[in-house]
Amino acid sequence: MRVLGIETSCDETAAAVVDSERGILSNIVLSQLDEHRPYGGVVPEIAARAHIDHLDGLIREAMETAGVSYADLDGVAVTSGPGLIGGVMVGLMTAKAVASAHGLKFVAINHLEAHALAVRMTDKVAFPYLLLLVSGGHCQLLVVEGVGRFRRLGTTIDDAVGEAFDKTAKLLGLGYPGGPAVEAAAQAGDPARFHLPRPLIGRDDCHFSFSGLKTAIRRETERLGVPTDQDKADLCAGFQAAAGDVLADRTRRAMVIFNEMTGGANRTFVISGGVAANKYLRARLGVLCEQQDFAMVCPPISLCTDNGAMIAWAGLERLALGMTDTLEAPARARWPLDPDAPAAMGAGVKA
Ligand code: KG4
Ligand code: ZN
Repeated sequence: MRVLGIETSCDETAAAVVDSERGILSNIVLSQLDEHRPYGGVVPEIAARAHIDHLDGLIREAMETAGVSYADLDGVAVTSGPGLIGGVMVGLMTAKAVASAHGLKFVAINHLEAHALAVRMTDKVAFPYLLLLVSGGHCQLLVVEGVGRFRRLGTTIDDAVGEAFDKTAKLLGLGYPGGPAVEAAAQAGDPARFHLPRPLIGRDDCHFSFSGLKTAIRRETERLGVPTDQDKADLCAGFQAAAGDVLADRTRRAMVIFNEMTGGANRTFVISGGVAANKYLRARLGVLCEQQDFAMVCPPISLCTDNGAMIAWAGLERLALGMTDTLEAPARARWPLDPDAPAAMGAGVKA
């Protein structure tokens, strides 16, 4: 089977063709960084307009690079949430038009499910597995039981971890997006110079909190007045180490619960989402996996950040199970993977 995947839920316009036998035939990602950089973050209206400007051309490029015509496709898969609603609607309407014009099957994809399943495109990971999904909008620990079947063990009670990276970078004037900038600056830094908090460490549940860490970085930055490059490097290294400790501690707790749920036979841990591109955090979680006797599997970095191939792949997984959608499928700003998960303690909980 062969599917065209379309992604427009945030600031990447992306289209890809994935074949269930031959793998990724094309994966074109256009980042809108330059459009958003002057504002220090993603501006939803600018994102939606940029998707309109670029999506047609990107789909054409994805089809040409893959060397296929619409007659060679089995279906079209598109992110239909969660995300910035204007952008989601651009992708959704385009995908519906393509499916309708060419008589193709249509699959509405939850962006988070696409991050969760992306690893199965490159590695033969069997269900169930424990997933840490870390991106700009989400920080969740999930048991992936199957396609469309998730149990959420933990989520953030305030900021997502990628958001904390982005805000730290903004505070230190390192530019946007913050994750790669903080990771690069941290390489020359001393993680022990500043004493930064590790929110929620040691708690019985698997939830996260990052706003206290962000506030601590702000306080230290204000205390320094005009931070030097070395100050910035030390703060970034300290931030990354604290974030790593929090992620590792909460994941350790989730591993205990996961083992209780599964009887301890399937000990696979997957990290996905944009923040999974961070090599320091990958290594930190790798050590945890060794300690806890879990196999760690990470999608390649190009499949961790937003892309069309993961959407096409989720479409293939769904099509293989006969799970298609009608052209009535709505755009959704919010779309939790596990709607039955109990709310996390604290204000401003993100699903
Ligand atoms: O999954 P993604 O591409 O988009 C969302 O669905 O949110 O994730 C984007 C997030 C941003 O917050 C970005 O700063 C973060 O992933 N990120 C990183 C790194 N690369 C991207 N965070 C830490 N280290 C990185 N190397
Ligand atoms: Zn994403």
